[in-house]
Amino acid sequence: MIENRLQLIIPADRIQQRVAEMGAQISSDYPEAEPLLLAGVLKGAWVFLADLARAISRPVTIDFLHTSSYGEGNTSSGEAKLVRDLDTSIEGMHVLLVEDIVDTGVTLDYLMRVLSQRRPRSLAIASFLDKPSRRQRQVDIRYRGFEVPNQFVVGYGLDFAGSYRNLPDLCAIREE
Ligand code: PRP
Repeated sequence: MIENRLQLIIPADRIQQRVAEMGAQISSDYPEAEPLLLAGVLKGAWVFLADLARAISRPVTIDFLHTSSYGEGNTSSGEAKLVRDLDTSIEGMHVLLVEDIVDTGVTLDYLMRVLSQRRPRSLAIASFLDKPSRRQRQVDIRYRGFEVPNQFVVGYGLDFAGSYRNLPDLCAIREE
């Protein structure tokens, strides 16, 4: 039973407090008259994006893209590919890529290269989690929720074989 191996890492109230701080920072950093697009990276970012968007006090638009870099397991293939693109053009817009976690950095390194070619006014990253111990590609995270050690974490959008994304807390799966 994997439920017996879940260990609380960051409780929901601490997550909500941190997301509120990030939303306030983003609200003050971007000029209110200029369009800001929150581009969520499916699937993991949907919970963080929903909370972050509501913690931002200026107008935003929302879009999603979906990359694939992992299979059902937890080992990276070392490459990312775009399996669902944004619906909208980003030319001339401030774009904030919203992620649940930066692990090896392969996904965001790829997305930053792809999206920067589309002439956005600015392009930056907001990630709920940062796991720097696993980094293979250098990624500049402008807004970071929490740094986590090299543990397999689930909850708040992050999954194990598709489950546990709906946990309001962040938990680690203990080794057996
Ligand atoms: C996870 C996560 C990031 C990526 C980070 O996505 O949501 O997109 O891996 O890893 P990286 O820094 O090593 O590239 P995943 O492919 O597991 O898909 P999911 O979001 O649908 O769970």
